[in-house]
Amino acid sequence: MTSRIQVFSDAEALSLAAAEQVVLSARAAIARRGEFHLVLSGGSTPKRLYEQLASPQFRGRVDWSRVHIYFGDERSVPPDHPDSNFRMANTALMQPLTLDSSHVHRMQGEQQDLEQAARDYARIIQLRVPQTNALPVFDLVLLGMGDDGHTASLFPQTTALKEKDRLVAPVYVEKLHTWRLTLTYPVINNAQQVLFLIAGSSKAQRLAEVLTGQPVDYPVKAVQPRGELLWYLDESAAALLPQEIRA
Ligand code: 6PG
Repeated sequence: MTSRIQVFSDAEALSLAAAEQVVLSARAAIARRGEFHLVLSGGSTPKRLYEQLASPQFRGRVDWSRVHIYFGDERSVPPDHPDSNFRMANTALMQPLTLDSSHVHRMQGEQQDLEQAARDYARIIQLRVPQTNALPVFDLVLLGMGDDGHTASLFPQTTALKEKDRLVAPVYVEKLHTWRLTLTYPVINNAQQVLFLIAGSSKAQRLAEVLTGQPVDYPVKAVQPRGELLWYLDESAAALLPQEIRA
């Protein structure tokens, strides 16, 4: 694994740089194997990135007919619910790009039987995404970080952190009193690239603990992909990082 930290002046600059990175990764994957398998992050930070990718400045630089979209996690709500990660990405990215719906692979968080929904999604990934080490290899996984150090829906003290075999798992998040669906470490860590997008002062303390190697076991720390690990931060999130680890 190689790791790189980059700090940008604000969330807008962060989103622009991330859009450039997604375009680079997409073009490289399409050149290499004719497709780009991209995992979208939920939450609020990546919304501006998705809007940038769908803007005239970026949209023409990727052959979107060769792109397959997946999700790192989903809330237990319907796809048109305000909390839905799919809804946010659909509004900001898929609809503006008029992406072929057969290329958008949604986690069905609204299902009553989330164990079955997890199995169904794992099957989609196994069928669609090329494999190495008998595991799917996503070209790029976008992730965020919560101020408790969670990523995707891999929250502290949850069962999902211990998943070693399943690619997708339902997880009950006590502090939020809700169920989620999430990709697990085995599939996230088999990715070519993982790109964290982290902005805002609320993340600064956790981020400093994670990136300065302090003995903390926040879920983000166990994201150690086979390929490249990129940390794209804004100044607020990076405020407590020592100069020597900022790119
Ligand atoms: C989710 C995300 C989650 C998110 C972090 C950061 O479903 O909420 O997958 O892991 O990336 O909570 O969220 P913000 O970008 O809103 O700070």
